[in-house]
Amino acid sequence: MATSSFPSSLFLLCSLLSASLVLSEVHHHDFVIQETPVKRLCKTQNVITVNGMFPGPTLEVNNGDTLVVKVVNRAQHNVTIHWHGVRQMRTGWADGPEFVTQCPIRPGNSYTYRFTIQGQEGTLWWHAHSSWLRATVYGALLIHPPPASSYPFPKPDRQTTLLLGEWWNANPIDVLKEAIRTGAAPNVSDAYTVNGQPGDLYNCSNQDTIVVPTGSGETSLIRVINSAMNQPLFFTVANHKLTVVGADASYLKPFSTNVIMLGPGQTTDVLLTADQPPNRYYMAARAYQSAQNAPFDNTTTTAILQYKSSPCCSNGTAKGIKKTPPIMPFLPAFNDTNSVTSFSGKFRSLRDIVVPKEIDESLFFTIGLGLDNCPKSFPKSRCQGPNGTRFTASMNNVSFVLPSNFSLLQAHSKGIPGVFTTDFPAKPPVRFDFTGNNVSRSLFQPVRGTKLYKLKYGSRVQIVLQDTSIVTPENHPIHLHGYDFYIVAEGFGNFDPKKDTSKFNLVDPPLRNTVAVPVNGWAVIRFVADNPGVWLMHCHLDVHISWGLAMAFLVDNGSGELQTLEAPPEDLPVC
Ligand code: C2O
Repeated sequence: MATSSFPSSLFLLCSLLSASLVLSEVHHHDFVIQETPVKRLCKTQNVITVNGMFPGPTLEVNNGDTLVVKVVNRAQHNVTIHWHGVRQMRTGWADGPEFVTQCPIRPGNSYTYRFTIQGQEGTLWWHAHSSWLRATVYGALLIHPPPASSYPFPKPDRQTTLLLGEWWNANPIDVLKEAIRTGAAPNVSDAYTVNGQPGDLYNCSNQDTIVVPTGSGETSLIRVINSAMNQPLFFTVANHKLTVVGADASYLKPFSTNVIMLGPGQTTDVLLTADQPPNRYYMAARAYQSAQNAPFDNTTTTAILQYKSSPCCSNGTAKGIKKTPPIMPFLPAFNDTNSVTSFSGKFRSLRDIVVPKEIDESLFFTIGLGLDNCPKSFPKSRCQGPNGTRFTASMNNVSFVLPSNFSLLQAHSKGIPGVFTTDFPAKPPVRFDFTGNNVSRSLFQPVRGTKLYKLKYGSRVQIVLQDTSIVTPENHPIHLHGYDFYIVAEGFGNFDPKKDTSKFNLVDPPLRNTVAVPVNGWAVIRFVADNPGVWLMHCHLDVHISWGLAMAFLVDNGSGELQTLEAPPEDLPVC
């Protein structure tokens, strides 16, 4: 009809306008840090939470949105919040690691984190980055495609987030303090948890086991996050295949697997189709333990995938009638490194990408544990590590020490001298058989220091992360703040540039923020230093950070405003 042309173009104009208005949103949240009584494993204890919730609130945004989170500290501990995996382009002040990008938020004070999600989709999370507070102060950050876009896979019927955590029948801060005092390894946890609940296999826990409902034939997007403090975890669902579609908020070429492994810090998005007979199936997680002769928590946490039409629980099941137990999955052996290798070998970015081919900075970092000889002034009780030593850890033989009077970023941006040096070594001071059986005891003791490595804006960086067998080899989840990096290769033994360079995947390597470096092996990562600021890189096994398995990059500003760190917010905490 002739009359319709004018109104319909008007309508089109209006909808275009409103579409652009909703394109990106600003989300405001209040996080109140407080002590909250929580009952787990038959015992009530006060733990630190956000808004009284354990785990904390789930934040949901679209790619392109801005988050404004006001953190008010009503607890008796210093706190900071880190947005794990968020690139924080030019907004390093909002990154969160204590004494790295900010001073802690003192009891009674507050700080507002402001940042924009740019080009990331999938699952990230947030957690406290101060002492061991993150044992209870953590939550999910879900990033959906923007309104005009969609997932690169069929839209799932349901979505669930499973945060895997670790629980102590003690105040986690005391567990850490005790380890630092004695020099020994900290007590292992008493339980793993799914969304804060240990599940059916623990005492006093089956009333609150997490239940994930599904209809027959439905597909769920399950976002699995390893928020455990010190333990890489296997995760599997009885009788169901998992199709991996993303990790660390980057999409992957889908692949199918029975079991996934996540190092602390890592996230994995999987699709699960309910294609089995209606029933209840355990979703279970337990340790992947690669360190030798080290005590670990060998318990299993479970949630239940429950079909709506399960015989046990369809309408009419009277309360108190004993349900048949859910079906238990097969879990790999604790030390099943082969499963881990075949799993991580399947990771490919969804799309071919531009991996830097030429490298400006070729770095080689050893990562591992160490032993400090007992200082003369220390009583025996403070040297409870192996043979009367104290545990330590390092990268390139430097055991990282955080400053306490300024944050590194503040010292850098204000030019305050004496807080750090920029002489972190590009390679280990001594070459030795890194993964050999008999590393000389003289190489066990690192030096302490607050050493940064300086990068020019835009430089193309390659790092070989080389595990060592000092004390014990171990799979270390190495996390870089402020960046995603490509994992171009992984392998066992000592990295050999002559034969290993040919294995590099420069076409579709996975993009991640945390790499689980193979036990007694290596991983090679690449990134472009396009985000100015001070960025911590560390092992995400929290006990290893406490021992010094960390370093930081200082990335210079480039030219012009868009390549320059923003000015610090006015409410930035001071030390
Ligand atoms: Cu998720 Cu520096 O950490």
